[in-house]
Amino acid sequence: MYCTRKALDDLIWVGADDRRLVCFEGVYGVPDGVSYNSYLLLDEKTVLFDTVDKAVSQTFYENLTHSLNGRELDYIVITHMEPDHAATLDAVVLRYPNVKIICNAKIKVMLEQYFDFDMEGRIIIVKEGDSFSSGRHNFSFIMAPMVHWPEVMMVYDSTAKILFSADAFGTFGALNGRLFADETDFMHEHLDEARRYYTNIVGKYGVQVQNVLKKAEALDIALVCPLHGFVWRKNFGEYLEKYKLWSSYVPEEKSVMLAYASVYGHTENAANILAAKLVERGVKVRMYDTSVTAASYMVSDAFRCSHLVFAATTYNMGVFVTMENLLRDIAAHNLQGRKLAFIENGSWSPTSGKLMREILAPLKNMEYIGENITIRSAVKEEQLSQLEALADAIAADMN
Ligand code: FEO
Repeated sequence: MYCTRKALDDLIWVGADDRRLVCFEGVYGVPDGVSYNSYLLLDEKTVLFDTVDKAVSQTFYENLTHSLNGRELDYIVITHMEPDHAATLDAVVLRYPNVKIICNAKIKVMLEQYFDFDMEGRIIIVKEGDSFSSGRHNFSFIMAPMVHWPEVMMVYDSTAKILFSADAFGTFGALNGRLFADETDFMHEHLDEARRYYTNIVGKYGVQVQNVLKKAEALDIALVCPLHGFVWRKNFGEYLEKYKLWSSYVPEEKSVMLAYASVYGHTENAANILAAKLVERGVKVRMYDTSVTAASYMVSDAFRCSHLVFAATTYNMGVFVTMENLLRDIAAHNLQGRKLAFIENGSWSPTSGKLMREILAPLKNMEYIGENITIRSAVKEEQLSQLEALADAIAADMN
């Protein structure tokens, strides 16, 4: 049975939630599920904005069929070719054989790579600034390359002042019956998952996000319709401010993310002692065991916190595997402008401190606080003063 929501009287959300997915994109755990958003405009012509992932295709087809109420589907606008939005395109074309596809040239290339359906006479190529009318609604197209794929574009409806923003402004988490962000306490209930979504999926491309934010700022926007998560019709500015921080790699808060990798608990002991000393000095600490917490949560907090401390044992003459995975993930996401400190452990040849620094060395505007603290097997009295000094240095740096 269909399950739709109206975003406007003539704009219907025809997407679906997936609460059974374990890992989005095969890597990001989604304990609260995820939504795949698709929007149908019922104008003089009917226009579908993107499709959905295969996992929720049946609900999507029912939603689309019901919402069209016997009308033909005239156009599909594709803003992004990643299969969580485009996997059901060929099935929609089979169901509505006269449908025309509006996309840009890069999307057309990917369409031909992913699909074999007949595209002859079906594709309408648009570029930056081109316009299109479905009757009452007039659209223009805004290219958003590398936010977060090269073909991505956004669409602005100047009639209803809608920005179809592709993956931008999305979040992890199923909608659970809600459609609008103002139907939730978004900043308290969903900001952490929105940050984890942005930083892990789009975080590497801050420059490109900044470019498209500048274009969006010139628009009068009443409604933002992303491909995941909630539609924004109120208080969008507060969320936009977060995007400005994340995309410019400015920390959201003065705080420490303290991540440790510990085999038998001695490195964890050092991390615990440092955490206590930091908290005694009034410093907020967000602490993780890299063997327990998935990297995506720590990548997210690395974007959130001003200071990052990494403590790891040496393992096979390298960095313990879960810490190495985290550091390489942070490096791959192009994080910049943080204060860094390191604690290493090793029973016979501690090298993890030097190696951790090397992994993060390519990142821009990173500053180091203090020397590496070295533990040989277990924390001894002399390390207490070193941990005390590191806590002092971090606390002083925050004031
Ligand atoms: Fe939600 Fe980049 O796909």
